[in-house]
Amino acid sequence: MAKDTRIDRLFSNLGLMTRNQCKKAVKGGGIAVNGEVCRSEAEKVDPDADKVTWDGRPVDTRRFVYYMLNKPAGVITAARDPKSPTVMDYIFDLRTDLFAVGRLDKDTTGLLLITNDGQLGHRLLSPRYHVAKTYEAGISGVLTENDIAALEAGVDIGDDSPTLPAKVRPLNAGGPQSSCDDASGAAQKVLLTITEGRYHQVKRMFEAVGKPVLTLHRSSFGPLELDPALNPGEYREITEDELKQLKKCAQ
Ligand code: URA
Repeated sequence: MAKDTRIDRLFSNLGLMTRNQCKKAVKGGGIAVNGEVCRSEAEKVDPDADKVTWDGRPVDTRRFVYYMLNKPAGVITAARDPKSPTVMDYIFDLRTDLFAVGRLDKDTTGLLLITNDGQLGHRLLSPRYHVAKTYEAGISGVLTENDIAALEAGVDIGDDSPTLPAKVRPLNAGGPQSSCDDASGAAQKVLLTITEGRYHQVKRMFEAVGKPVLTLHRSSFGPLELDPALNPGEYREITEDELKQLKKCAQ
């Protein structure tokens, strides 16, 4: 990488101060780059390599960050909302350019990737790469063999074209542990893997076979599996290896 970012722009992108405030902080000698007091707010730095401090404290200036959030229910996938909490309220990072990769409904829980890497985010959502997403749905009713065959082949959910082939795995009694809320009244829990991201797609797919969704939880996104150590509302940075795999699946 290169020294291509002005220090005042960097601090403002990180949400730490405005460019004017940064100018003042520089004047006051409060900002240093690699141990040298910064003399101009126009000084250019390499955010991934230079060591920046503010009043002696290190500043995390990395260009890109990648977080895996276990989204709780009742939270909106948006940067801001006048009425409801949003997923960004859970991320303690002042960067102003963070966004969620894709959208989970307010009542959907589970894995949400949050980053400021626009290029990767865009690729992961592009229909070109068919990134697989697995959901665990608690449904009303029990899928028949015909339902499963229909969901796997592609169903008409009222769009121009039927859904792309999907994978369906009912979690029958005695099967793998489910993370859905048993108090929901769901008759069956089902793992559904899709490679598209249409509006309310999972709910509409189950609706199409007459088995509405009562609970919905995303357990994986591409190569990323939701970390079982994360309680709802908790997040962690993804590992280097996870990032490598994520980049690979959208290449
Ligand atoms: N499909 C849905 O119907 N809802 C979600 O939140 C995600 C996928």
